Amino acid sequence: MSLFRLSPHNLIKKKWQDKIIGLTAYDYISAKIAQESKVDFILIGDSASMIMLGYPDTYPITLEEMLIFCQAVARGAPETLRIGDMPFLSYQVSIEKAIYNAGLMLKKGRCHGVKIEGGSEVIPVISALVKAGIPVMAHLGLTPQRSLELGGLRVQGKDLESAEAILTSALALEEAGAFAIVLECIPAPLAKLITEKVKIPTIGIGAGPYTDGQILVFHDVVGLFSELRPKFVKNYLKGYELFKSAIDSFIEEVKTGKFPEVQHQYSMEEKIIEELKKKYD
Ligand code: KIV
Repeated sequence: MSLFRLSPHNLIKKKWQDKIIGLTAYDYISAKIAQESKVDFILIGDSASMIMLGYPDTYPITLEEMLIFCQAVARGAPETLRIGDMPFLSYQVSIEKAIYNAGLMLKKGRCHGVKIEGGSEVIPVISALVKAGIPVMAHLGLTPQRSLELGGLRVQGKDLESAEAILTSALALEEAGAFAIVLECIPAPLAKLITEKVKIPTIGIGAGPYTDGQILVFHDVVGLFSELRPKFVKNYLKGYELFKSAIDSFIEEVKTGKFPEVQHQYSMEEKIIEELKKKYD
């Protein structure tokens, strides 16, 4: 696999060619499936905080925990572009800490770039990361790491002031060197305008059909996560029900003696077991 193919900057060319497909993954198996389905990039999202670790939001997950998920995804999808989400508090304290922590996502997490939530307030950090050679995907609109400040997980940019703030942030993030922007939970016409105004790809999640690409959370696509159900999520499978019914069948078959069957057993020579029985009679 050439490093060039895995370069985040390669994604920029796709803006003018084809829809870009992103998917989150946090573990070996989901990453392997995403790679086999040929997604354009995998985001090791901090949504792992809820989906993998059972926290109520994205605040608690640590850099160390994110690194474990990034490493597992790198083993499952070695040939796919992988972007690691910078967790809360890993880039806000100082620019030096942000560079060091983002560097760890590349060095230890084997990511090809990082994602950082925020608008104009994170421009100095993003410029410094880009100068340090760390590719950055930006994230505007609903930024869950600011959900306490935003008053919950709700659509952003509906009035003139907030829509303009998102648009001007997008332009500033492009200027600062971000290679793509995730637009989460904003009105479709605003996402369309931003997509037309920037030369880097926009990746939508709850931002309508006019962005350059779309991203969804793996566990939402396969219907495995039902605790948070925003309007923009589409389940392509009833994964939770399917998994549950498989486990119910396993329990039922063990109880009724249907499982294990002959093909699930190991045999041995009759005389050996007879000898053993005699010895311990
Ligand atoms: O963490 C995550 O899964 C994300 C996506 C929703 C874009 O940031």
